[in-house]
Amino acid sequence: MKRIAVLTSGGDGPGLNPCIRAVTRMALHQGVEVTGVHRGYDGLIGGDVRELDARAVGGIMGRGGTILGTARCQEFTTEHGQRRAIRTLNQLGAEGLVVIGGNGSLTGALQLHRLGFPVVGIPATIDNDVNGTDIAIGVDTALNTILDAIDRIKDTASSHHRAFLIETMGRNSGYLALSSGLAGGAELVLIPEIETSLEKVADVIEDTYIRGKAHCIIVVAEGWKPGCRALISYLMDRREELGFEVRLTVLGHVQRGGKPSAFDRLLATRLGAAAATALIDGARGVMVGWVGNQLSTIPLEKAVAFQKSIDREIYELSAVMNL
Ligand code: F6P
Repeated sequence: MKRIAVLTSGGDGPGLNPCIRAVTRMALHQGVEVTGVHRGYDGLIGGDVRELDARAVGGIMGRGGTILGTARCQEFTTEHGQRRAIRTLNQLGAEGLVVIGGNGSLTGALQLHRLGFPVVGIPATIDNDVNGTDIAIGVDTALNTILDAIDRIKDTASSHHRAFLIETMGRNSGYLALSSGLAGGAELVLIPEIETSLEKVADVIEDTYIRGKAHCIIVVAEGWKPGCRALISYLMDRREELGFEVRLTVLGHVQRGGKPSAFDRLLATRLGAAAATALIDGARGVMVGWVGNQLSTIPLEKAVAFQKSIDREIYELSAVMNL
């Protein structure tokens, strides 16, 4: 193999840059040249690329976002788009591709593999919902960002004797809300995987007040139904009974930015290096992951077969910890 390409796709997250750096430097170390693709599959279809040498990926370890840019690309979901992408790769002389991204991006990688192009995937999404890895790149940093926000909100919540709804990302996945809720000492966690009625939320707030706590922190995943806005309006209607006044903070994209943590830099470096080596050594249609504190490899087909779910034991533990 003389040349490989690398791209980042889908929602960004901290750790993409150390991962691009690791893919590039490991490939160069093995005598293989590297093309960086801008804006994910969109740039691949349009041929928007640049050469990545060792210096091009220097000084990016501590930078959030992705130097290559990223996108969610509709055209690539069609076979026509996928064939156009393969044409670009062939024109560039790239004999393999490393795709860094979440479920949608890895599904795209699987399509390229099915069309016969050599691909290796790397899981990177703050949602931590990719099957076949204990943790994806970006999750640790995002969790620490959320925890910082929870700690700060708790200070003001306690001073004012208030309840707070804190909305985290997680369109389909409750991982971020659940883990930050447990680590941040939340009184309740609301996630898409577990149904919780509006009445139950009001009961928890009232009960927390009666037990003499100075605050009530409720961490809500973006994908929980019926959603934070419906919940806050319900709670406002019942404010006389609750004891606490209620406020809402939506964390939004602040969770996706920032310097990658030490853990994310190490994970990204290990996975990036392993993916480059696997591709050069002839692995096809696989994803490298981190399982039981070790590198692992599974077929992309299995990685994207279903979305990894939350651990119910952790949900139950968070309910016990809020006494
Ligand atoms: O998939 C990652 C994620 O951060 C989700 O948690 C969130 O719902 C979504 O991306 C937001 O996407 P966008 O940045 O395109 O609005």
